[in-house]
Amino acid sequence: MNVQAPLHSSDAATAEEAIARQEALPPLTNEEATEVAMQNTLLTPRFYTTDFDEMDAIDVSPVRAEWDALIAQMKSDPNKGHFKKNDEWEADWEGMDPALKAEFIDFLISSCTAEFSGCVLYKEMKRRGSNEDITTLFQLMARDEARHAGFINDALREAGIAVNLGFLTQAKKYTYFRPKFIYYATYLSEKIGYARYITIFRHLEENPDKQFHPIFQWFREWCNDEFSHGEAFALLMKTDPALTQSRVNKMWIKFFLTAVYSTMWVRDHQRPEFHKALGVDPAWYGQEVYRKTSEISKQVFPMTLDIDHPRWVKNLERMERANLAIARGRKAGGLGGWLTRMGGSVRAGAAFVALLSIPAIPNEVPADVRLEPVY
Ligand SMILES: [Fe+2]
Ligand SMILES: [Fe+2]
Repeated sequence: MNVQAPLHSSDAATAEEAIARQEALPPLTNEEATEVAMQNTLLTPRFYTTDFDEMDAIDVSPVRAEWDALIAQMKSDPNKGHFKKNDEWEADWEGMDPALKAEFIDFLISSCTAEFSGCVLYKEMKRRGSNEDITTLFQLMARDEARHAGFINDALREAGIAVNLGFLTQAKKYTYFRPKFIYYATYLSEKIGYARYITIFRHLEENPDKQFHPIFQWFREWCNDEFSHGEAFALLMKTDPALTQSRVNKMWIKFFLTAVYSTMWVRDHQRPEFHKALGVDPAWYGQEVYRKTSEISKQVFPMTLDIDHPRWVKNLERMERANLAIARGRKAGGLGGWLTRMGGSVRAGAAFVALLSIPAIPNEVPADVRLEPVY
């Protein structure tokens, strides 16, 4: 294996370069992965578009000092060249149990799509904007996400598949979100991404025998990128206090917290073999990730969800069962299947409302936002 191969996405200075380098790799005929990445359901990663002019108009002067420090750190590019295979990379796809392999591939495709979803949104903001602060930030974040997506694709390629990133950009449906919803959703997904990656990394540090694929070894540096991206969105939200303090926006934030947390729970519980192989109980993992994300999000959100409330896990489990019924109904088809599916949807909706009705824990946001990744 030539680990010094030139022109790899991991060294690319821009997202465009990283994508082009991925596209230049040997073509793959497998269309399945791209098809999975193309799916738009409540549980699959989506692509977003927004009002780019409104975002371009943000004035970062209220957070100038913290902003400049963050941009300088991102420009110094500590992870340049990191996201590529090295001599320690030893993937055993052949020896992998087929059920685990299927779930792991699904996990990689979904992660690759999520990384790339960030990339296309950030890249587009950079392309459309004229505000130098904003375009600089978004160009740096797009660069990171393109490297992350490229690296996952490298891992998938060894299993004979890859996501066609260029095709996805063109063909996947884009969901429109107002800028403030982009801030809430993206901030959360960056911070939860950090919490997810670092929790797995720390768990595997303690249980090295459970590391069934080398990609997990890259998770520490990886999550630091996500952490910085989350910091950027925290600063963007800090430029306008109404975004996090008005009564209506507080309701939206609670809605996004509940939606992001519960989606993660349901999605993770769909991969029992994957979690068994890692030696991780998905319920424990979920709560652990929420705990870290909640602690971090106190930097900017006016509340945290009460994840120790007696109705919390109970309703997440209800939602998960409802989701299983929806999947069963879809598989069965026909009138019976449709009824099962509808019943499941109603119960999933009821569980979501029950989760939303749990009183949140109010939080006094500190004046200084910047945090360091400490987990
Ligand atoms: Fe990423
Ligand atoms: Fe990110």
